[in-house]
Amino acid sequence: MTKKKIVIAIDGHSSCGKSTLAKSLARELGYTYIDSGAMYRAVTLFALRNGLIKNSKVDEEELIARMKDIRITFEWDTDTEKNTTFLNGENIENEIRQLEVSNNVSPVSTIAGVRSELVIQQRENGKNKGIVMDGRDIGTVVFPDAELKIFMTASPEIRAQRRYLELKEKGAEVDFDKILQNVEQRDTIDSGREVSPLKKADDAIVLDNSHLTREEQLQWALEMAKEIIEEH
Ligand code: DC
Repeated sequence: MTKKKIVIAIDGHSSCGKSTLAKSLARELGYTYIDSGAMYRAVTLFALRNGLIKNSKVDEEELIARMKDIRITFEWDTDTEKNTTFLNGENIENEIRQLEVSNNVSPVSTIAGVRSELVIQQRENGKNKGIVMDGRDIGTVVFPDAELKIFMTASPEIRAQRRYLELKEKGAEVDFDKILQNVEQRDTIDSGREVSPLKKADDAIVLDNSHLTREEQLQWALEMAKEIIEEH
């Protein structure tokens, strides 16, 4: 039996472990991993650096005009599960995880002209299949024909706690209440925006991982992926 490559779309709320699951799935299947959130973060960093965001207000017209100057690439190492994001050749992986970018990324991701540019790049990345991509609109907009769609969620408190520990581990000064506020704010904006709001695709399978270990999630998703791959 020849094993065909498929597209796996993982969508869901912020900080609910999408990238952890997506990366380990990609490692197990020998697939490429693409973090679409990192692309919105890279555009946000570009906008901040170029004075296109002032007091959380984005100069939309100028940012759309400058999208042609933004080239986002990734280096994915399957063995170490390390994903590095580059903006015009510069490694920006650490910078895009800082609170300043997190606090400004939602308004940037509501801009239709930004989304349409990034969707083109995302589809390009997935044209040969054999890819796991995580985000908010992967199963609904970017790859509506993805063979496997997973919609992940967990309670806001659990998600804030996870992000708190992650940032603390990296040595950042963090305040739990501020992180919880950021998680809740992003949920509201992500689900309420007009363009490509976060919503479950009709054919996506829900995974609430509030009380599941990483290994349990991986085994669950692998089983489903293998069933589809072997059917093809
Ligand atoms: O997954 P993340 O937290 O790194 O995503 C950062 C932001 O980008 C988040 O506020 C939602 C937005 N995003 C989006 O609108 N569409 C995607 N496909 C991925 C992320």
